[in-house]
Amino acid sequence: MSPPIGTAPRDRLRIAIQKSGRLAEPARSLLAACGLSWRESRDKLFCYGESLPVDLLLVRDDDIPGLIADGVCDLGIVGRNELDEQAGERIRNGLPPAYRALRGLGFGQCRLMLAVPDEWEWTGPAQLQGTRIATSYPAILANWLQAEGVDAQVVELSGSVEIAPRLGTADLICDLVSSGATLAANHLKPVHNLLDSEAVLAGPAGAFDDVRAGLAQMLLRRVDGVLQLKDRKLLMFNAEREALPALERLLQDAGPLVQLPGANGALSLQTMCEGAVSWQQLEELERAGARGLMVLAVERSLA
Ligand code: PRP
Ligand code: ZN
Repeated sequence: MSPPIGTAPRDRLRIAIQKSGRLAEPARSLLAACGLSWRESRDKLFCYGESLPVDLLLVRDDDIPGLIADGVCDLGIVGRNELDEQAGERIRNGLPPAYRALRGLGFGQCRLMLAVPDEWEWTGPAQLQGTRIATSYPAILANWLQAEGVDAQVVELSGSVEIAPRLGTADLICDLVSSGATLAANHLKPVHNLLDSEAVLAGPAGAFDDVRAGLAQMLLRRVDGVLQLKDRKLLMFNAEREALPALERLLQDAGPLVQLPGANGALSLQTMCEGAVSWQQLEELERAGARGLMVLAVERSLA
């Protein structure tokens, strides 16, 4: 039986992630890459952590900031858009900030944009004076309008924002844009970016004062390790000492070139490369005297 939510002893860490949607799969893969595994429960809302005392709560992304604020969850993986919106709402209501983004996670990229009907000619924010703007992000939009000194009506909708102009309930919209397909299908065009968003690991504004502090710290360290490794490759090869200057020139963007004594007075060399190492780069290195070139993926590392 899963412990009842909100009352479990706090010797385990609880992470909220999206149950289904854009962030669900990458969030789970990231946590799995950090060495977490779970016993799947039949209700599929609570997953008991097996490898570590870290449990998962599968919820709607919009609920994640609130769950952290209320202390029901300790950490969450959620879009920066959702976190900023709910933080903005708290500030507007005179509440203290209850959570913060601990790490950007490099997936779920999207932008919160103003989008207008195709036939509009966009001249700038001043054009929005007196208009009605439909959005699910009223706090971010209201703050932006205020900063721009524009007086417009914010029409708050919880979904299907993109059809509001056609229904006549708004003149334009402010919504998330990822591929742009939704806007195009609704004869809207993006004209102004309010926020660059991606998935973030969020936690409470304050620090944990029990065993969760150590668990959270360990998880953050592993997350950093996984994020750093993403495109890292270890390049290994052999070369004669005379070839070294030319090889170093070709590898000036890579990390330090580690030299070890190899067979017959040659050198055994290795270096860490950020991003892919192409065939062309390997061939250039070979022409410069590198032999036995090998590119290896890095699986784990502790910085
Ligand atoms: C966003 C937004 C659009 C869609 C845009 O919704 O509200 O509906 O994505 O994507 P596109 O530019 O690739 O067409 P999201 O998937 O974030 O769902 P949610 O707002 O209901 O959480
Ligand atoms: Zn949502």
